[in-house]
Amino acid sequence: MVDKGKGPATKVSAGLLDLLNQAIARELQVAIQYMWQHVQWSGVKGFAVHDELKSIGIVEMKHAEAIAERLFYLGGTPTTKPTPIFVGKTLKEMIEQDIKDEANAVELYKQIVEVARKEGDETTNRLFREILQQEEDHHDTFTTLSEDL
Ligand SMILES: [Fe+2]
Ligand SMILES: [Fe+2]
Repeated sequence: MVDKGKGPATKVSAGLLDLLNQAIARELQVAIQYMWQHVQWSGVKGFAVHDELKSIGIVEMKHAEAIAERLFYLGGTPTTKPTPIFVGKTLKEMIEQDIKDEANAVELYKQIVEVARKEGDETTNRLFREILQQEEDHHDTFTTLSEDL
């Protein structure tokens, strides 16, 4: 019997909680990564990239917070540790890494959408469908910007 009086109304597997923490670690990584790339960027080229790095970095921080809120509700403890941050020396180096990180996010979030759906966690499913769409936009933005570098 499920005890409906205790804990969150929606219960999920430890595997899904772990995936949410992997997502948080990645969001923390890219939030810091884009912020430092924005700070360290210099040169006459890439003013558009500069602005995008700043605004996308802020979006990633909001993703980290939204996912952490969901994880905490579900009974997990959000990690404070980002996955390894890569800043890069040149704008080209920076954006090439960022394209890879966004592609990895898209892959991981598709997986989370699917697992959440299977476990009947509609809220996590919806949250990650929304975030997934934004990561696809970021990937598209960085890919487009990289063509001019
Ligand atoms: Fe994100
Ligand atoms: Fe992103």
